[in-house]
Amino acid sequence: MVDQDNSENFTKLMTRIRGRDAVIGIIGLGYVGLPLAVHFCRSGFKVIGFDVDAAKIDSLTKGCSYLKHIPDEFILELSAKGQFEATCDFARLAEPDCLLICVPTPLDDKMEPDLSYLLQTTDQIAKTIKTGQLIVLESTTYPGTTEEMMLPKLESSSLKVGRDFFLAFSPEREDPGNKNFDASNTPKIVGGVTPGCLEVASALYNAITTVVPVSSTRAAELTKLLENTYRSVNIALVNEMKILAHRMDIDLFEVINAAATKPFGYMPFFPGPGLGGHCIPIDPFYLAWKAREYDFDARFIHLAGEVNIAMPGYVVERTAEALASRGKELQGSRILVLGIAYKKDIADDRESPGYAIMDMLTDRGALVSYNDPWIPKLRPTRKYNFTHESIELTPELLTACDAVIIVTDHTAYDYGEIVSHARLVVDTRNSTVGLRNGLDKVVLA
Ligand SMILES: NC(=O)c1ccc[n+]([C@@H]2O[C@H](COP(=O)([O-])OP(=O)(O)OC[C@H]3O[C@@H](n4cnc5c(N)ncnc54)[C@H](O)[C@@H]3O)[C@@H](O)[C@H]2O)c1
Repeated sequence: MVDQDNSENFTKLMTRIRGRDAVIGIIGLGYVGLPLAVHFCRSGFKVIGFDVDAAKIDSLTKGCSYLKHIPDEFILELSAKGQFEATCDFARLAEPDCLLICVPTPLDDKMEPDLSYLLQTTDQIAKTIKTGQLIVLESTTYPGTTEEMMLPKLESSSLKVGRDFFLAFSPEREDPGNKNFDASNTPKIVGGVTPGCLEVASALYNAITTVVPVSSTRAAELTKLLENTYRSVNIALVNEMKILAHRMDIDLFEVINAAATKPFGYMPFFPGPGLGGHCIPIDPFYLAWKAREYDFDARFIHLAGEVNIAMPGYVVERTAEALASRGKELQGSRILVLGIAYKKDIADDRESPGYAIMDMLTDRGALVSYNDPWIPKLRPTRKYNFTHESIELTPELLTACDAVIIVTDHTAYDYGEIVSHARLVVDTRNSTVGLRNGLDKVVLA
């Protein structure tokens, strides 16, 4: 630890963190921020949640959660104990000892990083920053963001990092809907601007899980992008393999399961209708964008993006072919899309390939409806203008449709019923394994 970190501020903050007396401020109470708030409360800290969305704050203040995996009772109980409160009042950013930033980091229309949410938050913190505060960025971003974009704004207050305040990056690894892993048993990567920053941030996260310290904020930022680029590239690989295997008349899912019996050197990834969610389709492009500054073309990232983006089109083509072999055209056919969430058993439809599939089918004249037990109604997004409501899944509906496309393999679906009543099933997830033997009405896509 360098001398400047041996300050009174450092010692005070460490004592407050270790004694669970530190107040934690979480900025951005979405899929990442709200579960994180609950974890810190559970570990004995008082948490103040900040969000610009007044409806979210209102809902939390009334004790209502908007995330299915965070029950209302948690919020009610934590609020009643005085451990949690939510506010839109950003003047209160001076109250917490530690501020954890979980705001969105999307792409703009040119597929370039949109840091506007983060920069707005940093400006707000710079206005209220007080000595002894720890600020940690958790939002996914390119290497250099913490030190190049945040640090100058925070130091414009004339406070010095490592001496007066502490700054770190610790990527969020939340996997919504994952029943085996959450913030309490997923190791947390932490990188600090100075050794003291690393030490206080590590002490904080140690209260909820195992910490993996790295040498810099840039290393921590790149760790997260490596993880998500790895997923994107491997998913693209199996998606491409799926198309090849189809031409070869081989079931790729059978092949993947066979390959997965190798006890070393292979990790299974499964093909699907394309990528979705706020992370995998977006994060690699943050890295590709930054790579250009180094005169580097991140070819794997671009190729994986191309392959994955083409998958919804492949699903639509397979559906058209299967209909054609039954003497039907997409134009005028009644198509039911099953699942619009980007993955099973969650209510998150951001970047879902289901939207691209619905859009292409509609463009080609199909009459499209959808069912999703997790998403009762579609809302218009920047890209799509759907306002459909989920329709009840009945044997009559299945029989009435010309094709049923399984986009998301929700556990709640009865695949036996789907296969037995539908006229044609296009399965993008291998959900009908064991049910399609000899049935030419089920096609994998
Ligand atoms: N969702 C995931 O599974 C996941 C996993 C790992 C990492 N991440 C990363 O975490 C970050 C947040 O993702 P998310 O899924 O929680 O997003 P989200 O959209 O669910 O939540 C973000 C919240 O921030 C709020 N917000 C926006 N601007 C704000 C501001 N200026 N001040 C305060 N609040 C503001 C929004 O109202 C929203 O409630 C992103 O960088 C994302 O890439 C997400």
